[in-house]
Amino acid sequence: MHILILGAAAGGGFPQWNCNCTLCKGVREGSIDARPRTQSSIAISSDGQRWLLCNASPDIRAQLAANPSLHPRRVPRDSGIAGVLLVDAQIDHTTGLLSLREGCPFDVWCTPNVHQDLSRGFPLFTMLEHWQGGLNWRTIDIGAERLESTFEIPACPSLLFTAVALDSNAPPYSPRRGSPTPGDNIGLLVEDRRRATRLFYAPGLGRVDERVRSFLASADCVLVDGTLWHDDELRRAGVGQATGSDMGHLALAGPGGLLEELSALSTATRRVLTHINNTNPILDERSPERATLTQTGIEVAHDGMRLEI
Ligand code: MLT
Ligand code: MN
Ligand code: ZN
Repeated sequence: MHILILGAAAGGGFPQWNCNCTLCKGVREGSIDARPRTQSSIAISSDGQRWLLCNASPDIRAQLAANPSLHPRRVPRDSGIAGVLLVDAQIDHTTGLLSLREGCPFDVWCTPNVHQDLSRGFPLFTMLEHWQGGLNWRTIDIGAERLESTFEIPACPSLLFTAVALDSNAPPYSPRRGSPTPGDNIGLLVEDRRRATRLFYAPGLGRVDERVRSFLASADCVLVDGTLWHDDELRRAGVGQATGSDMGHLALAGPGGLLEELSALSTATRRVLTHINNTNPILDERSPERATLTQTGIEVAHDGMRLEI
C-alpha cells in the first residue's frame, strides 16, 4: 500500500499562527533546523490512483496542491480522493471537508460518536447537505463489546480496514468532552491483502493497553501519536495549561510513555511519529530529544513523506 503524509503537525500546525514559543519562532525565523508542517492528515491507496483521505485537515488546499497524486486527471471535475475516513471529530481532522465541498457527495467513514459531533456541535454533515447532497455517512460500527470493526472500502479493493476504539478525548464541542466513550477516537489497522503487510495508524492515542499493544505489535509499520514529548510541555513552554492527559495524547517521554512502548517493538517494525505539536522538541532536528529518537530507530513524519508498505 502507498501512504502519503499530507500533514504531520497536530492542531495549530507548525508554526502555529499565534505562537511565539521557541520552536515556532525558530522555524519562522529560520534560526533552528526544522521543517514547517501542516495539520494532521494522510492518504492511503492500494493502486496509487484512488486514495482514501484519512482525516481532512484545515490545510487541505495546500496539501492537495503539494501532492500531484491527488490531482484531477480523468474528467473535467475530478480528484484522486475517492473517500474520506475520520478517526475523530476534532477541528484539525475534519475542517478540510468544507474545502472539499465542490466535490460532494463524498463517502465519509466514521463512528456514530464522530457523526453525532459533526451533526451537532460542529455540524459539517448538516451544512454540507447543501452541496450536491453532501456527505454519505458510512458507519464504522465498533460495537459495545468488541470495540473494533473490520470493513472494506471500495476504492481500495486490496486493503482491509480494522478500526479499533482508542482512549483519547472528544472535542471541546462534544457532550462527551472529558468523559469520552468508545468511538470518540479510533486507530486504524490497514492490511494489504496482496502483500500481507500491515499499517497501524493512530494520531490520537491517550493510553496503550494490551489490545493496543497487540495491534502495534502486529504491524509492519506504526504511524502514531507524536503530539508531545512531555505531558506538561505546553505549561513548560508558557503557552497553555492543558496536559497531554487532558487532551488525550500520551506523551513520548517518561515511565509509561509512548517511547517505551515503541522501543519494545521488534526492530523490524518501522516506527514513525505524526500529529506533532509545535511545542515538541523533536521538531528541532538538532535537539537531544530528536537524537534519542534517531538512536532508537524512530522516525518523525514530515509533510510530503511517502511510505510504501
Ligand atoms: C487534538 O488532537 O487534541 C487536537 O489537535 C486539538 C486541536 O485541534 O486543537
Ligand atoms: Mn488533533
Ligand atoms: Zn509554538
